[in-house]
Amino acid sequence: MVNKDEFFREVTVRICSSLDVKTALKRAFDYMSLHLPLDTLSINIQDVSLKAIRRIATIVAGSEQLDQVIHLPKEVWQRMQDRQPIPTIIHNDQDEYFTLLAPYIRLKGNSLISVPLTLDAERIGTLVLGAHGEGRYLPCHLKLITRVANPFAIALVNALSYEKLLKYSDRLLDDNHFLSKELIGLTGPVIGAEGGLRHVAEMVRQVAPLNNTVLLLGETGTGKEVIANAIHAASPRKNGPFIKVNCGAIPENLLDSELFGHEKGAFTGAASDYRGRFERADGGTIFLDEIGELPPAAQVRLLRVLQNREIERVGGSRPIPIDIRVIAATHRNLERMVSKQDFREDLWFRLNVFPIIVPPLRQRKEDILPLTRFFIKRKSQELGMDRAPELAPGAIERLVNYSWRGNVRELENLVERELILHQGGKLRFELLPLERREELHQPPRRDGAPVVLRLDEAMARHLSDVLKIAKGKIYGPNGAAELLGVNPSTLRWRLDKLGIPHGRS
Ligand SMILES: Nc1ncnc2c1ncn2[C@@H]1O[C@H](COP(=O)(O)OP(=O)(O)OP(=O)(O)O)[C@@H](O)[C@H]1O
Ligand SMILES: [Mg+2]
Repeated sequence: MVNKDEFFREVTVRICSSLDVKTALKRAFDYMSLHLPLDTLSINIQDVSLKAIRRIATIVAGSEQLDQVIHLPKEVWQRMQDRQPIPTIIHNDQDEYFTLLAPYIRLKGNSLISVPLTLDAERIGTLVLGAHGEGRYLPCHLKLITRVANPFAIALVNALSYEKLLKYSDRLLDDNHFLSKELIGLTGPVIGAEGGLRHVAEMVRQVAPLNNTVLLLGETGTGKEVIANAIHAASPRKNGPFIKVNCGAIPENLLDSELFGHEKGAFTGAASDYRGRFERADGGTIFLDEIGELPPAAQVRLLRVLQNREIERVGGSRPIPIDIRVIAATHRNLERMVSKQDFREDLWFRLNVFPIIVPPLRQRKEDILPLTRFFIKRKSQELGMDRAPELAPGAIERLVNYSWRGNVRELENLVERELILHQGGKLRFELLPLERREELHQPPRRDGAPVVLRLDEAMARHLSDVLKIAKGKIYGPNGAAELLGVNPSTLRWRLDKLGIPHGRS
């Protein structure tokens, strides 16, 4: 018989020889099998979620296969929970419990030793030795094995932590995957890319493959964020992160740590290291929305980041290089802010390398119909409607004539409201706020001050006036076409384009 101390030492050295529990178990198995009957060796846990015995690692001598998970009937599982385990040589007819368990643990024709593994009085699993043939284990074997239970317990704890880590890392990967899918969901199509936004779309195509800073300007709700997403999605960084910072929404005292991160202990409450948004955007794009709201101190720090392409965490002592593409956006007039010294001129120069102006909806009325259709489809799906309702005749004219101060966002909200309020049938859009619906049809000021009208607005007014004079008639003598000296079908086409309602005649 082997010397007990030597056995303990050799097994301990082997079971602690690798972080991979299977490798370590194999090394221990090879040694142990020289000194006692051994055909299978496994470390098991009771998996509460499965209500089963689960083998964390198993070594078998031949080509024999053992189940990874041993599912137990409810009553056997319960009996197992109620027992206080002790190191045991399991006999076939030892007691009623083992008779119940026997078919599940392959007791018949084999000998088994079971040793509970505990650490700090906590039961964590079981070490099971098996040998072919009955009655092969003696009390001296049990004693020998019981002495090495501790190193096996440590190996098991390590294996379990590792398993947990893998699970978390899988979950993180999954989260990441999910979030990028969410982001793809956000980057829907740019409606109007072939229409009223074609110049913008062209600039996006030019700038997307490059790395330069882009400044998106335009009124609220015009789609600046949609364009920022489109630039990222068409850029070589498209598989990297797209991190948005709403510069106006982060309280000033948190801004530095939110943008640049902080080191553990940098200030009260900094319990651990924190990666800021610039760091998170590494390899991708950072979208600095509402850049006009950035407080002066943060403007200085942003300028430094743009110049040096490196950041320093709050409380950090070394600069961290970052590889990012910057897209900034604002609905404010930055130039005016610079002249009023509300925005740093040097930062403005840095940002203003490639400005893209996203035009307001009133300057691209041709996009109203496709946008309305797009929102009807998307919103009716979101609202769980079976079918997207159609547009009633005249509805689009009403929309085109409306003055869209809130731009695309206002249109989107209006479509949603119309869908919620509509009682079946077609969408009429009759509930547009009245005062703005009529803005367009107010007579031009005649008090001598010149009124600057956009060309299509002036044309729309003139055509409406002429239609009134012609009593709505387009064709024939004294029809609007004749009065205007144009072809009736050209006139009809123009009226449609400007969204002016007209009859067929
Ligand atoms: N061309 C477009 N195609 C499809 N959807 C659009 C388009 N433009 C805007 N939208 C939608 O309109 C809404 C407002 O757009 P977005 O948030 O991009 O505007 P914004 O210019 O960033 O506004 P703000 O200045 O208020 O932040 C969003 O829901 C967006 O999906
Ligand atoms: Mg925005």
